[in-house]
Amino acid sequence: MIVAIDGPAGSGKSTVARGLAARLGFRYVDTGAMYRALTWLALERRVELEDERSLAELAHGNPISFEGDRVWIGGDDVTESIRGARIDRVVSAVARHPQVRAIMRDRQRELAEGGDAVIEGRDIGTVVCPEAEVKVFLVADSAERARRRQAERPEIGAEALATDLRLRDERDAAQMQPATDAETVDTTALTVEDVVERIERLVEARARA
Ligand code: DC
Repeated sequence: MIVAIDGPAGSGKSTVARGLAARLGFRYVDTGAMYRALTWLALERRVELEDERSLAELAHGNPISFEGDRVWIGGDDVTESIRGARIDRVVSAVARHPQVRAIMRDRQRELAEGGDAVIEGRDIGTVVCPEAEVKVFLVADSAERARRRQAERPEIGAEALATDLRLRDERDAAQMQPATDAETVDTTALTVEDVVERIERLVEARARA
């Protein structure tokens, strides 16, 4: 079974998807980490972030892989390097290119193959796995999302962080529509445990159907 979890930054996707995968014994695929890894490599190799064709070549020649919790690209373990504000601020510029998205989509489908997986991103329920058996779209109010992000990026001021989130939402908007058959869950006032349990119930109901 494929469980697709989409939603904006700070909606709780990663924590929930990881927890759910552990509970269900499913594989966990973080597609945002893939765009982040490609962005890291493009900065490293000084590829222009507007240069769609060069970025697509870079993505094609350097497939991203996951080893447990670690993220690899081009022979480097980039797990920690992709989580800073430096990547947050430019990743949308890389992710917006259709040629890049096509390569990522194919790689994401490959990673989804072979049975049970929880896959998180922006377009999993709509584009990558439209046939996913369970689709969830997580939302949360912007103050709560900024507060959560602040806990992960203590080095950034609260105001700058709120601005970063707002700009990223605007830039990611084209890629981020809930699937018509997705269940929207507002996580603002819920604990991670609450959200995981709620999705687990959807998975159980689907398994029974
Ligand atoms: O979920 P995240 O913040 O790690 O994602 C990083 C960026 O990658 C995000 O700003 C938008 C992009 N992204 C995307 O366009 N499609 C996905 N399926 C996942 C992420």
